[in-house]
Amino acid sequence: MGSFRSFVLSGLLLFVVFFVLYASAGCEGGGGGGGGGERRVTLKRNYVTLQGLRASRARTIERAVRLGAGESLRGVSEDDVALNNYMDAQYYGEIGIGSPKQLFTVVFDTGSSNLWVPSSKCYLSLACFFHHKYKSSKSSTYKENGTAFAIKYGSGSMEGFLSQDDVTLGDLTVKGQTFAEATKEPGLAFVVAKFDGILGLGFKEISVNRVTPVWYNMLDQGLVKEPVFSFWLNRNATDKEHGGELVFGGVDPKHFVGEHVYTPVTRKGYWQFKMGDVLIGGQSSGFCKGGCAAIADSGTSLLAGPTGIVAEINLAIGAKGVVSNECKMVVDQYGDQIIELLLEQMNPIKVCSQIGLCQSDSNKKSEPGIASVLDKDASVSGGMERDDPGCRVCQMAVVWAQNQLRQNRTREQIDSYLNQLCERLPSPNGESLVDCDSLSSMPTVSFTIADKIFDLTPEDYVLKVGEGPDAQCISGFLGLDIPPPAGPLWILGDIFMGAYHTVFDFGNTQVGFARAA
Ligand SMILES: *[C@@H]1O[C@H](CO)[C@@H](O)[C@H](O)[C@H]1NC(C)=O
Ligand SMILES: *[C@@H]1O[C@H](CO)[C@@H](O)[C@H](O)[C@H]1NC(C)=O
Ligand SMILES: *[C@@H]1O[C@H](CO)[C@@H](O)[C@H](O)[C@H]1NC(C)=O
Repeated sequence: MGSFRSFVLSGLLLFVVFFVLYASAGCEGGGGGGGGGERRVTLKRNYVTLQGLRASRARTIERAVRLGAGESLRGVSEDDVALNNYMDAQYYGEIGIGSPKQLFTVVFDTGSSNLWVPSSKCYLSLACFFHHKYKSSKSSTYKENGTAFAIKYGSGSMEGFLSQDDVTLGDLTVKGQTFAEATKEPGLAFVVAKFDGILGLGFKEISVNRVTPVWYNMLDQGLVKEPVFSFWLNRNATDKEHGGELVFGGVDPKHFVGEHVYTPVTRKGYWQFKMGDVLIGGQSSGFCKGGCAAIADSGTSLLAGPTGIVAEINLAIGAKGVVSNECKMVVDQYGDQIIELLLEQMNPIKVCSQIGLCQSDSNKKSEPGIASVLDKDASVSGGMERDDPGCRVCQMAVVWAQNQLRQNRTREQIDSYLNQLCERLPSPNGESLVDCDSLSSMPTVSFTIADKIFDLTPEDYVLKVGEGPDAQCISGFLGLDIPPPAGPLWILGDIFMGAYHTVFDFGNTQVGFARAA
């Protein structure tokens, strides 16, 4: 019962925190030009905690599983789209529901599409006890719907029913919005959450029960001038005053420099687009050269990508990972042979089947290096057929070796590099710690989007947990493998969106990025 009590206590502590929303339409000079039609929501921010990061990791993985499953598995319904726990969610703001307004703190999440808040009819979940609850009988604009609503999680499901009421974001009121009143919230994670609910800004395609999302109604009701919204997430840890800003209907020119680079949304659901090569210290990593999918996800703290390249990044920044015996075994026994075959100019795709680690046709379609060599629990194959781990390690080793050969490394150098990588495979459950004093010697990690290079500096991608002498530094990269055709996949969470002001251009179905300021 001790841990139960400490959860209750931390919940109580969180009560002390209050959140304010300023929606000062037009008051700040009407950045989009011409006054109204643009609404600013000031975001508040949590500071990173280890617990929060673990929660984020879990949710990111769950999200990726859904994404992979959506394309590769039959019979997975859209209703399965996950909202894992949001305990780590760093950015949130306030909304009102009903007349008069009942206030709620919500996470604005581009990785989901429903609005839900706790219900006054939620009696048995501790999470409801600690949060604001919507009471329909107190609202003159409430309309009953009653349809049952559920979102599944790893730990259980969030259950409730649909209702309809007016939703206020600052001085902007969306009429007749259907949303979910939660009557059951699973797990203790929600108990300690600093927010009451979630406001999804993803596409209707992933909306549970196909409920029309808030953003769609905002557009239909002519409440914003331009069909875009944009995020600025403040990453300056010493600036406690400004958490961030979400602008509906435009962009705030104060919070970016230069022009946005736009790329088309390739699949509506999440805000998904195509990403190319990933560079470490300016060197091509060879991953994603053939194109990877990526999503811009404000509900995730981390930056998740294929295990093979995250291992290379971890090595380059001195982060520790897990030692994979499978990896060691393959590199010890077959490393020389792999290098030999590559030197003989064999088609890299064929190397692993030549050695006998992969079946000849198992890797025809897929680019090498997308595979997980982590243990079963860590795997993100989402129930999909699992390749032989030896084959997967071999495919990664081929990509690693190819890169080294391109840089004219000697056989011995390559061999030692492969061995080191085996020790840097990202740990699925633990943090990849880095030395806080070594930031200046860490490389820039860059992503190619729409043929432009987007750099992330160590200040962008290293998360600092705690302050003073006890501060710990953690790599913001999470290893995650989604098999083709949905993968390989990157989830660009707050780490990326903090560095790059992001425009969600609904009207032109594209996403735009510019350096945040
Ligand atoms: C409840 O809301 C859903 C989703 O918007 C809608 O399809 C359904 O018709 C509504 N049901 C009632 C009884 O209003
Ligand atoms: C961060 O915020 C603090 C306090 O507002 C400010 O003094 C400092 O210049 C900011 N740092 C950067 C890099 O913008
Ligand atoms: C590798 O060596 C070749 C031939 O000597 C040379 O043309 C190429 O520029 C070298 N590449 C690098 C990355 O040093």
